[in-house]
Amino acid sequence: MQEQLIQRAITVLENNFQKGGFTIPSKGLYPFQWKWDSGFIALGFAHYNMKRAKKEIETLLDAQWENGFIPHIIFHTDSDTYFPGPDFHQSSLHPQASKKVRSTGMTQPPVFGFILQKLYEIAEDKEDILKFIRTHIDKVYDNHVYFYENRDINDEGLVYIYHNWESGTDNSPMWDDIWETMNPPEYTFERRDTSHVDPAQRPSKREYDHYLYIIDIAKKYLYDDTKIAEHSPFLVQDPLFNAILIKSNSALIQLYKVLGGNEDKLSYLNEQQIKSKKTLNDKLYNDELGAYVHYDLRKNMQIPYISSSSFSPLFSGAPDKEKAERLVNTMMTKFGDEDRYLCASFDPTHERFDPRKYWRGPVWINLNWMLYNGLKNYGYQEIADRVKNDSLQLIEKYGFFEYFDSRKSNPDSENSGYGGDNFSWSAALLIDFLKEKT
Ligand code: DGY
Repeated sequence: MQEQLIQRAITVLENNFQKGGFTIPSKGLYPFQWKWDSGFIALGFAHYNMKRAKKEIETLLDAQWENGFIPHIIFHTDSDTYFPGPDFHQSSLHPQASKKVRSTGMTQPPVFGFILQKLYEIAEDKEDILKFIRTHIDKVYDNHVYFYENRDINDEGLVYIYHNWESGTDNSPMWDDIWETMNPPEYTFERRDTSHVDPAQRPSKREYDHYLYIIDIAKKYLYDDTKIAEHSPFLVQDPLFNAILIKSNSALIQLYKVLGGNEDKLSYLNEQQIKSKKTLNDKLYNDELGAYVHYDLRKNMQIPYISSSSFSPLFSGAPDKEKAERLVNTMMTKFGDEDRYLCASFDPTHERFDPRKYWRGPVWINLNWMLYNGLKNYGYQEIADRVKNDSLQLIEKYGFFEYFDSRKSNPDSENSGYGGDNFSWSAALLIDFLKEKT
């Protein structure tokens, strides 16, 4: 049974692999290379084709800008099935953008540190993988330096995101309060996503107006980080983004130790890491909610909503035992009913929860994978196992979808798998779940 599932997952990945040496998240809906997707996809490949895993990472890192920035979408090819494409984003406005390939001018969570470490753990030929890591690790390091030097405007160890698409949790209800502070023009454009997926499962047209408007502002300032920090109506410190940065810092520290030397890089990373962990705990933890939350740098206040991102610091190792216990408690009280799969992307007890709409409620396999690993590291093995088994059940029952309804009995539909089908990271992370050495 497990072997069959793995074979099906491999077929998904193989079908999404492109001649250019990268893997699309899902045909039609996402026809290019996405930054954090690519990391999770490489992890899936690593279990059965290390050469492919290395290629995926190499192709992505090859699109890095001169300032260390790595974009969220790399437009390796032309495709008219996606909007907004390269002509809208115009990455070349930034003087240090890649001259080789077009991209967006925004980024996504920095997963590559911990992905390199996973590859090192999985690889049978350690010498070969260390050779690969030695060649590429500085690019990942440069990306972290880019974040700390350009996006940590208070020099406190937390980096900002200036667009909801940078968070990865694109249309989460926590952005609604920010949309209320904006009044973007009504753009005229042809949506492509809703020709692939039921519009009930995607963001609204008005939300897209906000998304496009923020990009237009960033373009007006030629994607200059300092100017974006001054002018973007969206400026947020995200617990998920920063937890992933912290996790990847730890991974880089461990890998540099294995490689030897690199004392200056190690001391830079160690110094940032202490600051980042401290501020994550001081600034993004909300004691009343028993959860980490987002921080709105425009209003200088926390955005007090609980989402699956709220528990992601478990993955980073930053919470102490007491905070971890509170987090698990909050998660199980609000998200953990027996009639629900773990873990909904937004608080199911909140009025803004929508079980079908993208990041407003559905379960996502990559968040589950991070939560599983975080819970396990803190010793919550039983709950971790539930997260893993729920992920496997959802995929087995409904297929390799992009996201899933968290309700075990779903009155709306027989198929609780939503969004893109044959979705690469659902396949890749299922492989990692099933191949895990316990
Ligand atoms: C989309 O188009 O919805 C993508 O998730 C943006 O990254």
